[in-house]
Amino acid sequence: MSRLVTVSNRVALPSQLQAAQGGLAVGLRAALEESGGLWFGWDGGVDERLAGARAPRLQEANGVRYATLRLSRSEYNRYYLGFANQVLWPLFHYRMSYIHGDNDRLTGYWAVNRLFAEHLPPLLGGDELIWVHDYHFIPLGQLLREQGVDAPIGFFLHTPFPPWDIWRALPGHEALLAALCRYDLIGFQTAIDRDNFLDCLAHAPAPPERPPRLGVFPIGIDVDQVAAQAQRGLDSQQGRRLERSLGGRRLVVGVDRLDYSKGLKSRFEAYERLLEAHPEQRDGVTFLQVAPISRGDVPEYEEIREHLEYLAGHINGRFAEYDWMPLRYLNRGFHRTNVLGFLARSDVGLVTPMRDGMNLVAKEFVAAQDPADPGALVLSTHAGAAQELDAAVQVNPYNLDELVEGLHRALTMPLAERRERWERMVGILRRNDIHRWRTAFVETLREAHSARGAGA
Ligand code: G6P
Repeated sequence: MSRLVTVSNRVALPSQLQAAQGGLAVGLRAALEESGGLWFGWDGGVDERLAGARAPRLQEANGVRYATLRLSRSEYNRYYLGFANQVLWPLFHYRMSYIHGDNDRLTGYWAVNRLFAEHLPPLLGGDELIWVHDYHFIPLGQLLREQGVDAPIGFFLHTPFPPWDIWRALPGHEALLAALCRYDLIGFQTAIDRDNFLDCLAHAPAPPERPPRLGVFPIGIDVDQVAAQAQRGLDSQQGRRLERSLGGRRLVVGVDRLDYSKGLKSRFEAYERLLEAHPEQRDGVTFLQVAPISRGDVPEYEEIREHLEYLAGHINGRFAEYDWMPLRYLNRGFHRTNVLGFLARSDVGLVTPMRDGMNLVAKEFVAAQDPADPGALVLSTHAGAAQELDAAVQVNPYNLDELVEGLHRALTMPLAERRERWERMVGILRRNDIHRWRTAFVETLREAHSARGAGA
């Protein structure tokens, strides 16, 4: 069996094993453990004195090797903060006015990709399969080929892929599209993303010499593992404290990185409208929003943070009673067991992004529910997960009234309907789970590579 090499900007290092790691990290690590693989990426740190040459830091745990590189301040600014998070991220989430591109950021992005492409080959033994993740590393496949790497190389995009008319606003989009075409396989979350990519290809000045294989691989979760961990969270001291603090009220929960793509502003506004339009809900419901700070050095993230602080204060100021706080807004992360416990306790899961590649919180919410009395999921039609979870209460977050209506419907949904919807959703989650996701990608990559090789 070839060894799996995963490359991603963030690496879930073994030292962080016990900390708050998501299902994706756990799923990828399991795949790496099976094949004695390697995980390669950024170590998350910035070295102020670093200039030029450096060596990767190597670690090993459970048969998996981890190799990470540190970035200089200027690399971090141009590649991570600049091109990845102020150009690609907003563009891939259809937020044109948040794009701040320039040549310096574009060159910085390619330079860091080149740096990673130069450091990977010495770590390879000859029988590998390379799986590159996400928008930070679009050109990496091409740059690895230029280094003489002839292993299968596949790319999976965790975010949406935009339509051509948005894509063409990307500085250097021609070269990035050509670079994508050098992968053996490109995986997307949904058919919408794949079709957008195909449309971009159709607009390219010349068709690629050897087109990559394209596939739709909606990322999933390990349903039983999530359910068991959620139960532990519910039974934990924190879970019991949450229960006591609710005083028998119903609980609405949202869990998101503090990101403008997550639709938090309209979510807060919808909650305010709900309390306004349905006074009978007041004092009967608590909304817990967990939103750890993310990419805090990017101005748009600072702005949305201030705005949410304003809205949270406004809602509580307007509706709170001396013994009831309508909104609990928490700007910090919790251990995964606690988060899953919150989801398990909640009556309504609110997942309302303006655009999202998949959104695993929606899937985790479903898996965390008690089958005998499951909560209802309110899900944005603009989350990748909406393609599979058609039994959720689907809402268009660009219409505030639809959000309010969806939330109200979820809060008042009869048990029989909640059960029926939950059965349908959990069935889909079991079929498309995290194991199937990675096996399907890796097998298709192997096939795509040999088919391409044969035709070369
Ligand atoms: C999204 C991206 C990931 C990224 C994560 C956290 O889920 O698809 O690639 O790692 O956000 O963002 P950060 O900038 O902190 O890595």
